[in-house]
Amino acid sequence: MKGLILSGGKGTRLYPLTYTRAKQLIPVANKPILVRVIETIRDAGITEIGIVIGDTGPEIREAVGDGSQFGVAVTYIPQDAPRGLAHAVKIARDFLGDDRFVMFLGDNVIQGGISALIRDFAGHTDWNSQIVLTEVEQPERYGVARLNDEGRIVQLIEKPKDPPSNLALVGIYMFDHHIFEATDAIQPSWRNELEITDAIQWLVEHAYMVFPHVHRGWWIDTGEAGELLRANGLVLDELVPEIRGTVDDQSQVDSRVTIEEGAEIINSVIRGPAIIGQNTRIVDSYVGPFSSIYHNVVIENSEIQGSMVLEHSSIRDIPTRIEDSLIGRHAEVTIATLRPKAIKMHLGDHSRLGLL
Ligand code: G1P
Repeated sequence: MKGLILSGGKGTRLYPLTYTRAKQLIPVANKPILVRVIETIRDAGITEIGIVIGDTGPEIREAVGDGSQFGVAVTYIPQDAPRGLAHAVKIARDFLGDDRFVMFLGDNVIQGGISALIRDFAGHTDWNSQIVLTEVEQPERYGVARLNDEGRIVQLIEKPKDPPSNLALVGIYMFDHHIFEATDAIQPSWRNELEITDAIQWLVEHAYMVFPHVHRGWWIDTGEAGELLRANGLVLDELVPEIRGTVDDQSQVDSRVTIEEGAEIINSVIRGPAIIGQNTRIVDSYVGPFSSIYHNVVIENSEIQGSMVLEHSSIRDIPTRIEDSLIGRHAEVTIATLRPKAIKMHLGDHSRLGLL
């Protein structure tokens, strides 16, 4: 089997973070989501992976390279514009050939990996496709499935106004080569994309066997800031802690904290689950549960929890605790110590600031 990762898209719902960075490269628990996806596919025994890239292609290529650092071989497949998930399958045809494959959206994070799913699909050569469904609260935001009493798929619709069920399509799909008949046959949707949901509906209508697996653990499409923080918390909760950096005698670091190489914890309290990135300095501060502080960050004389701070940012002398926040790269959060005291800001487009 082969793997196909979709890593195009503009990430508009994550502005301003994604003005300057591919959304798939945002770290969740200090590891880019795309790397998590590659490792998930590799851990299921698949090492030949195609990555569909768009405008952010150069950045993705730089981060992933030929894949050898992750134990896989990567082929890049450029897509000229975001024309839909089924379009991505279409342009990957040369790479995929007649092999069965798993397609994984590069911004999805799933609990428990995909090894069991891949085993099931490999073991059922009569299945032309396997899709993954999970119960969600707002099905109108996703592709939605209607199943009959025997658990067979009756209908699949993309972002229905009036959802027939609360079972959403997770961004992980398995196909054999019959999917190309479907991607050739369907027409673009109202959002002018070739929808994979429509292609799978076509398979169902043409009597191909599409098996629906209902996933019971958590799954997150990290397309929005709130979801990114939620994914971060869930992944941190499962992280096996490791201390590689240094912690001085005045600091307290509890058992569910990972401190990466070169990080320094000085006169501070860190409560897990949390992760402190490489060469980051935490001085006279408190870092609370569900926080990921990425590489080369400085936090001094401040308190933060439930938040993500990306690389090369600093937080200094903030008198109130920062919570549930997403702070991008090279950001400076500080307080004016000289009068006149005032809030001074340099915020990017679409930034959000919630002051007391
Ligand atoms: C896409 C699919 C949708 C699926 C979702 C999962 O949505 O079209 O069917 O439920 O991914 O993340 P999009 O991210 O394009 O809105």
